[in-house]
Amino acid sequence: MGRGQHRALRPPTASRRSLPHLRRARCADRRHLGRRRAPTGGVVSLAGRSVVVTGAGSGIGRAIAVQLAAQGALVTVVGRRETALKETVAQLDAEVEIVAADLCTPDSADRIIDAAIDRFGRVDGLVNNAGLARFGRIDEVDVADLDALLAVNVRGPAQLIKAALPHLRSVRGSIVNVTSVAGALSMPGRSYYGASKAAMNSLTRSLARELAPDVRVNAVLPGPVDTPMWQDLGLSPMQTELLRRDMVAGTPMGRFGEEDEIARWVACLLDPDFAGWITGVLLPVDGGRTT
Ligand SMILES: NC(=O)c1ccc[n+]([C@@H]2O[C@H](COP(=O)([O-])OP(=O)(O)OC[C@H]3O[C@@H](n4cnc5c(N)ncnc54)[C@H](OP(=O)(O)O)[C@@H]3O)[C@@H](O)[C@H]2O)c1
Repeated sequence: MGRGQHRALRPPTASRRSLPHLRRARCADRRHLGRRRAPTGGVVSLAGRSVVVTGAGSGIGRAIAVQLAAQGALVTVVGRRETALKETVAQLDAEVEIVAADLCTPDSADRIIDAAIDRFGRVDGLVNNAGLARFGRIDEVDVADLDALLAVNVRGPAQLIKAALPHLRSVRGSIVNVTSVAGALSMPGRSYYGASKAAMNSLTRSLARELAPDVRVNAVLPGPVDTPMWQDLGLSPMQTELLRRDMVAGTPMGRFGEEDEIARWVACLLDPDFAGWITGVLLPVDGGRTT
């Protein structure tokens, strides 16, 4: 399957092949609740939903924008480099709004959400994917790196969540934070990065409770994925190469992940008909690295 071509996402086989008595039990449950949902055919769909994706000009964010557009979403793509965002848009067959913005500037969050509202009239989903990685042992890195990591990886998403919240609440929308397994594992040599991602994991779980039942909040925790981030870690080429080998060795599936392997799960979590009872989940998509 080439880039830009996407299969419709299907739920796990077990739910489609469930036994008749279990199907009857589920119908009885629904009668008890007194409401029925329109059948979705068991396929993930974001048709007509407006979703804001940060860091959409490259890597995982670009794959998310492509995946969401393939599921019918109206996408607002965000990043600092307009040219990179236009390259993403060239791969989409969807209605798209481009917002060139630095998440670290104070007015960016309102500007991004206003642009999505002006264009699409609603915000159903927010994907906080933009991120910065700065690796190094604590005696080698500057503490200013920690400020930069927290600004992009935590403060920016927090501002965006606050700006999007009234709109998300009004449509019972959803937030997906792209954090990292680095926020769940110990990270010698990458402690500042790990701390910033752990902060987002914590924010995800706390906000899931704070905002329920109006807004669902989940996180996808990628393992190593070959993206431009790997060319800009603050390490020497030799250190980067050693780290890459280390990653493959420490990943049971024995390889780096593909960008779209992350993007598909973001789409699943955003769809309220597919994941409407899931909130506060930290989902590792990592080839088994956290097992
Ligand atoms: N690749 C991996 O192995 C891996 C593993 C675990 C987690 N992750 C996480 O996955 C997410 C995506 O990373 P990636 O691997 O796809 O790397 P990437 O290609 O470098 O993507 C990072 C994106 O963030 C945007 N960005 C950075 N600073 C920004 C700012 N101040 N304002 C607005 N946008 C900003 C960049 O766009 P501009 O430069 O145009 O602003 C870029 O498109 C990150 O949160 C990362 O921590 C990646």
